[in-house]
Amino acid sequence: MGNLCVLDHPLIQHKLALIRDERTSSKEFRALVEEVAMLMAYEVTRDFPLEEVEVKTPVAPAKAKKIAGRKVALVPILRAGLGMVDGMLKLIPAAKVGHIGLYRDHETLQPVEYYCKMPSDIEERDIIVIDPMLATGGSATAAIGFIKERGAKNIKLMCLIAAPEGIATVQKNHPDVDIFVAAVDDCLNEHAYIVPGLGDAGDRLFGTK
Ligand code: PRP
Ligand code: URA
Repeated sequence: MGNLCVLDHPLIQHKLALIRDERTSSKEFRALVEEVAMLMAYEVTRDFPLEEVEVKTPVAPAKAKKIAGRKVALVPILRAGLGMVDGMLKLIPAAKVGHIGLYRDHETLQPVEYYCKMPSDIEERDIIVIDPMLATGGSATAAIGFIKERGAKNIKLMCLIAAPEGIATVQKNHPDVDIFVAAVDDCLNEHAYIVPGLGDAGDRLFGTK
């Protein structure tokens, strides 16, 4: 079973409180989601292996450490995952970005794929799938499945808010995937929205309704 890691850093929790607040405008919401994604990227990359290197400082040679040739791909689930990409790229600027377009059919609540474009060397990369919301887990489960079909093996999932149901679904279908979240909320409502959650992440990011 993959690990579940709840990132309870005070900066993440403070910003998440602002993100949840219904009075937060789309402009502020976008900026906050980007900032939290950047802070979460710090934790999600904690297991990246290091190698010793030698550099010359202005004073003397120094033994230092660099990330050992890690190739990363970020895969936002469209639309709302897009809001987390720039924050993560600030910390992992060499990452490539693949896109998966899924939406939840509002009647069946099943994820429907409408777009998929991955880096050509996806099978060699560490993949971080990103989406603010893990509700039923249907979208993340499907996205991870599509990415595995294209040959990727080392996959993590990073979300702002998860429902217990979504975590259980991903863990059941993809037990090899570690999940990183900023909060685990109470439950889903009858429309499969996370309670208390933050509402519709895509609409709040892009000002649609
Ligand atoms: C939201 C969210 C996730 C999905 C989570 O996207 O960004 O992708 O719902 O729900 P699930 O865990 O039950 O699958 P949505 O389908 O609303 O599409 P959007 O990002 O285009 O608004
Ligand atoms: N998607 C959202 O944007 N919000 C939820 O609460 C659930 C799914």
